[in-house]
Amino acid sequence: MYDNNPTLVGIKKEIDEAKQGQVFYDEKALANVEKPSNGKHFYIESYGCQMNFSDSEIVASILSEVGYRPTRAMEEADLILVNTCSIREKAEETVRQRLRIFDKMKRQRPGTMVGVLGCMAERLKAKFLEEEKLVDMVIGPDAYRDLPNLVAGAEEGERGVNVLLSREETYADISPMRLDSNGVSAFISIMRGCNNMCSFCVVPFTRGRERSRDCFSIVSEAQDLYERGYREVTLLGQNVDSYRWENPETQEVVNFANLLEMVALVHPDMRVRFSTSHPKDITDEVLHTIARYENICKYIHLPVQSGNSVVLERMNRTYDREWYMERVQAIYRIIPECAISSDIIAGFCGELEHEHKETVSMVEWANYSMSYMFFYSERPGTLAARKYPDDVPMEVKKRRLQEIVDKQNEVSLRHNKADIGKTFKVLIEGDSKKSDRQFKGRNSQNKMIVFPKVNGLKPGDYAWVKVTGATSATLMGEVSFP
Ligand code: 5AD
Ligand code: SF4
Repeated sequence: MYDNNPTLVGIKKEIDEAKQGQVFYDEKALANVEKPSNGKHFYIESYGCQMNFSDSEIVASILSEVGYRPTRAMEEADLILVNTCSIREKAEETVRQRLRIFDKMKRQRPGTMVGVLGCMAERLKAKFLEEEKLVDMVIGPDAYRDLPNLVAGAEEGERGVNVLLSREETYADISPMRLDSNGVSAFISIMRGCNNMCSFCVVPFTRGRERSRDCFSIVSEAQDLYERGYREVTLLGQNVDSYRWENPETQEVVNFANLLEMVALVHPDMRVRFSTSHPKDITDEVLHTIARYENICKYIHLPVQSGNSVVLERMNRTYDREWYMERVQAIYRIIPECAISSDIIAGFCGELEHEHKETVSMVEWANYSMSYMFFYSERPGTLAARKYPDDVPMEVKKRRLQEIVDKQNEVSLRHNKADIGKTFKVLIEGDSKKSDRQFKGRNSQNKMIVFPKVNGLKPGDYAWVKVTGATSATLMGEVSFP
C-alpha cells in the first residue's frame, strides 16, 4: 500500500506507531505486584520509539504500587495516560487526535483523569494545560516517580506538571510491568538521555543528558526475565555504544562491550539484541563481542541519516560518508553473517540533488536489510530550526523519499531472496498475522520468518527453519534441521 503512494510513504512509521498505540497486557503482569488494588484502573497508550514503550512499563509498575491496575478498556479507566513522541510533527498530530477521543471519554465519564507523558510533555510543558483544557497531568520522562503525587492531586481536582529532567534518574530499581508482551521478548532500558546534538533532533531537549544504568540491575532484570520464560531481551538506549557505568565501590568501568557480554552470559538460550548504535561510537571491541557469542544477535541498527558528507556535517552527526563506510566494512569483516539496518532522512535543510543521490547509493552499497525512512520535519528549538532554513520543497522531499524507499525495497528483496535455501535458528514469537496454523519468529538477523506449525513447538521455543520463499518484508519457510 505504501510502496505505490508517495504521500503515504513518509508516514508509514507513524502509522505503524499509531497501531502500536493499542495496548495488550502480559497475563503475568500483575504477578509481582505487592500492593492490593484500590479498585481503580489505568489505561496507557504509547507512541514513538521502543524506549517510550519501555518507559510505559515503568509507569505501569509505579502505578500498580499505589493500587492502580491496568485495563485494556479505555471506557473502564479512571486514569487515561498517553506516552507521547515529538520526533516528527506527524507523531505529535497523532497524539493530539487521540487527546480529542480522550476528551470525549472524559465528558461521558466525569472524573476520568487524563495524563500526558513523555517527549511531548517535556517539549510543551505547562503549555499543554493551556492548549488542552481537559488534560489533568503533564509528566516528563524523568519525573515518573512523581506520578502517584500528581494522580492524588488530580483526584482532588488539581492539575499538575512535573517536567524536571534529571542527571541521575535511570529507574534502575523499578521492575517494569511487562505490557504489550508476547511473553517471549522484552525491552531492557540500559541508559537514558542523549549527549549527541544531531541538529535535526528534539531528543536531547526532551530526554536530557545521557546517563547509564547500574549494570548489575540490568543483568538481574535479564535473569528474572529468563526465569519467567522470556527468551530475548533488547537492550535500549539512544546511543548504546556510549554506555559507561562506573562501579562506585571499585571504580571499575563497564562499557557496552562488557555489558553485552554480561547479559549474553545470563543463559545461552537467551537472545540479546540492542538498539540504537551510533556510527561514531561503535567499536571493534563491540563487534568482536557480538561475533564471539552465538546468542548475541547478528543484527545492527546503524542509522546513516544521509549518505553525503556535507549534509552529515550540517546534521552534526560527527562522521562523514567514509567513516560510515569503514564501520560497515568492519561489521561485515568481523561478523560476516550480520544484517545492518538504517534510519534515513530525505530532504534535510539545503540538501542538493547530487547529495540525495549519495544517500540512495549508500542504501545499495551498505546492503541494508531494511530501513526506516522519513522526510525531514523541522522541530522547534532544535539546532537546525535555529540555524538552517527548511528549504527543500515538500514535493521534492516526498519524491526523494520515494526514491530511497524504492531503492530500499529493491535491496531488501534481494537481501531476502539470498536467504532462500538457507536454514536459520528461529525464536518462535507466536501465531503469524494471517493464520493460526502458522508460527512467526525471527532469525538472528532480525528477519521475520513465517512457517507452518509442527507438533510440539510453542512460542518461546527455537526451531530450525529452512527458507523457501521471500518478499521484501518477510521470509517463508518450513521446519528443517541444520
Ligand atoms: N525529521 C525527520 N526524521 C527525524 N528523525 C529524527 N528527527 C527527525 C526529524 N526532525 C529520524 C531519524 C532518527 C529516527 C528515530 O527518526 O532518522 O534516527
Ligand atoms: Fe519520540 Fe525520540 Fe522521544 Fe522516542 S526519544 S519518544 S523517538 S522523541
